Amino acid sequence: MKPLQLQRYSAGQRSNHWMVVLCFVLAAVSGFALFHPALFWLTALVGGPQWARILHPYLGIAMFVFFLGMFIMFAAANLWRGEDSEWLATAGKVVSEGNKVQIPQKTGKYNGGQKLVFWSFTLSLIVLLATGLLFWQAWFASSVPIPLQRVAVTLHAIAAFVLVLTFIVHVYAAIWVKGTLHAMVRGSVTLGWARHHHPRWFREQIQAQGIKRK
Ligand code: HEM
Repeated sequence: MKPLQLQRYSAGQRSNHWMVVLCFVLAAVSGFALFHPALFWLTALVGGPQWARILHPYLGIAMFVFFLGMFIMFAAANLWRGEDSEWLATAGKVVSEGNKVQIPQKTGKYNGGQKLVFWSFTLSLIVLLATGLLFWQAWFASSVPIPLQRVAVTLHAIAAFVLVLTFIVHVYAAIWVKGTLHAMVRGSVTLGWARHHHPRWFREQIQAQGIKRK
């Protein structure tokens, strides 16, 4: 028998998320290709060197706009609360001992680790957009002083590094915590997943979605 499920994401929220992922992958591929000659071969994946250079800024803007949609939907649920520090204190144990560790009972829809990831995504994308515009040759660079463009290029690379590291942590956690990918693919999670990883959210949803506990 299929275990009872709790709705976690609507179809619109999931489509929004996967559009961010598509833009991220294409912007990262074209960005890496522009970053270092050793990675020039990546231009073949986006239609050649000219296309890599033309498309990269537009892909970055598209990612920012799609992410803004997610930000508007999820920022409130990612605000830092007292219990998130409690979750972070158990994070080391969660990593080493997995499901045996009792997650703090007040953990809501997102835990402290997910919230840090959310704000790291947000900050790095803001810095990437703001700095990228300053040295976008096709539109704005000609009116920006060269020293400022150099600072912008450096900050752009640092923010990209932070974004890619955050992405690796995010994907690793999504795959490593069994049952989590299902939330972003099919929209739902099992009652057991919710009760274990997000106990407060579980209790709220049981009431809101009218599910009777045995
Ligand atoms: C292959 C790449 C990716 C995979 C497999 C993936 C997977 C997931 C999964 C499974 C969730 C649901 C987590 C939960 O509900 O507990 C999620 C949520 C989310 N993802 Fe991704 N993701 C990917 C890439 C990205 C990228 C590139 C971004 C942004 C730049 C992103 C931003 C988010 C956000 C904002 C959430 C909502 C969670 C929150 O607000 O803390 N994801 N992702």
